[in-house]
Amino acid sequence: MIKLIDDRDLARSLRSDVRTGLTSAPKQLPPKWFYDSRGSELFEEITRLPEYYPTRTERAILTLRAPEIARITEAKTLVELGSGSSEKTRLLLDAMLTHGTLGSFVPLDVSEAALESAVDALNLAYPGLSVSGVIGDFVRHLGHLPDGDNRVVAFLGGTIGNLEPAERASFLTGLRAVLHEGEWLLLGADLVKDPAVLVPAYDDAAGVTADFNRNVLRVINRELAADFDPAAFEHVALWDSDREWIEMRLRSRAGQRVHIRELDLIVDFEEGEELRTEVSAKFRRDGLATELARAGFELRHWWTDPHNWFGVALARVAG
Ligand code: AVJ
Repeated sequence: MIKLIDDRDLARSLRSDVRTGLTSAPKQLPPKWFYDSRGSELFEEITRLPEYYPTRTERAILTLRAPEIARITEAKTLVELGSGSSEKTRLLLDAMLTHGTLGSFVPLDVSEAALESAVDALNLAYPGLSVSGVIGDFVRHLGHLPDGDNRVVAFLGGTIGNLEPAERASFLTGLRAVLHEGEWLLLGADLVKDPAVLVPAYDDAAGVTADFNRNVLRVINRELAADFDPAAFEHVALWDSDREWIEMRLRSRAGQRVHIRELDLIVDFEEGEELRTEVSAKFRRDGLATELARAGFELRHWWTDPHNWFGVALARVAG
């Protein structure tokens, strides 16, 4: 396992994100802090909820298309950004191994806990494959991806939606810069659709997403000796039809004061005040093709499901 972030870096960036986010107006926190081991488990639970269509829809597309993806790309190395449990990736690994080109798999994730168990499981299941996990941040550590030829970088699940447009542009440009002409990006993107389908996916009846959302407060309590009462915040999911993204927020149920001892910071919330915890952007094929082209990728293949709910793009690094 390669560690590009150690516990001290992680602690430093959490401190900086929390200080910046909770002293700005409106208050906000980046979604990457949901994913401690409990948060990663809650996310896995979300992926199995009836309302949360992205995971199973993307899986259906990949099940159908993995052999084609293997044939088209002839991948020797599969890199996966934000890999989490790497569960869907097995579809790609199986197809690429059957095709006979694949030699190594490099999953990269910020969550050491999730990565460790994924790498162990993959080593057991694929004894002939070289699996080397990288603990890193897919925005900051692209420059450290192992070199190779015929690499395919998979960025699945719709995680690209966590980036705002400007961040997306610099992420894609940065990724292009570390790849060679002819290498590939396999990108999973959740698509714009009826809010009656979108909103419940982020506000499920069982309350798992609400629990996941509040988990960021438990992370801050533990890591920064804070005294958030998670129950004092209501889970909010809303569709922004102008920006075409879902926002998750935590709404303070009352006026309250929170102490973040490790930061020597006092944060006041008014009754009804909202803290933005996640943006999950939704895409259209043409918009994505344009964003890819601006960054130097050519959209070569586009696969969706029968409802057009989720898109998988295969884009080639242009010369
Ligand atoms: C992991 C970022 C793709 O945006 O759908 C799920 C995270 N947040 N439910 C998404 C998430 C609330 C998920 N991504």
